[in-house]
Amino acid sequence: MAPALRRSPRVIAHRGMSTLAPENTLAAFRLCAEHGVRWFEFDCDLLADGTVVVIHDDTLDRTTDHTGGYHALTAADLGLIDAGSWFGAGFAGERLPTLPQVIALMNELGLDANLEIKSLGAGAAHARRLVAAVAHDLTALAPEREVLVSSFNPVLLGEFHRLAPQWPVACLFEDRWWAGMWGPIADLLDACAIHPELEGLTEKRVRRIRESGRDVNVWTVNSEERAAELFGWGVTGIFTDVAQDLPGDWRSA
Ligand code: G3P
Ligand code: CA
Repeated sequence: MAPALRRSPRVIAHRGMSTLAPENTLAAFRLCAEHGVRWFEFDCDLLADGTVVVIHDDTLDRTTDHTGGYHALTAADLGLIDAGSWFGAGFAGERLPTLPQVIALMNELGLDANLEIKSLGAGAAHARRLVAAVAHDLTALAPEREVLVSSFNPVLLGEFHRLAPQWPVACLFEDRWWAGMWGPIADLLDACAIHPELEGLTEKRVRRIRESGRDVNVWTVNSEERAAELFGWGVTGIFTDVAQDLPGDWRSA
């Protein structure tokens, strides 16, 4: 199993500081440093020219001034897409970042991150190109930085782990899908962490995962009281939209 991450418990800013800036943008990630939040989470997919782009949805509709899919676009098109105005006029001109830009920012600001590989519905060839591009781009990460690579798709995560076994991987689980299967899947993937959803999570399951030697990072937890309860159960980290409201020692962990 790849080594567990060095620090815990930790707060992971979900899609960056996503209640203070447009999600999954460099502005949202930069704010992590300003608020003393060491870890952030972001989502990746692939453009037609092999560029890894940072976006959650499979269309541009919700978080940009464009509509439709983006798999046919290239890096040059990103300069024409406004990914900030939907959130607030002060963020006009913010772009969808590329993975190399995010890695450069992590290196510059001393931030660590959970990279989630998306693209569940674009076909096997697209998925293979995406994981290969992520593995390639991560070689630019400074050695002192930490990254954890996760996906809801264990097949895609396995493909990534085969290509780049040096990076720790984590299995994202929705309770209704995988509740009884996290153990064998995580074993097959050599995963160092399980990322369960908050809904339906029990102390017993957290204990079992921790007994397997893995971290447990829960999504999405937006209450300090609930986070404290989870940390009391042995949870090692939480994804949150409101990192700015949580205690400073959790943010810097
Ligand atoms: O990685 C935790 C969380 O980001 C998973 O759900 O839909 O926000 O990507 P989603
Ligand atoms: Ca995500």
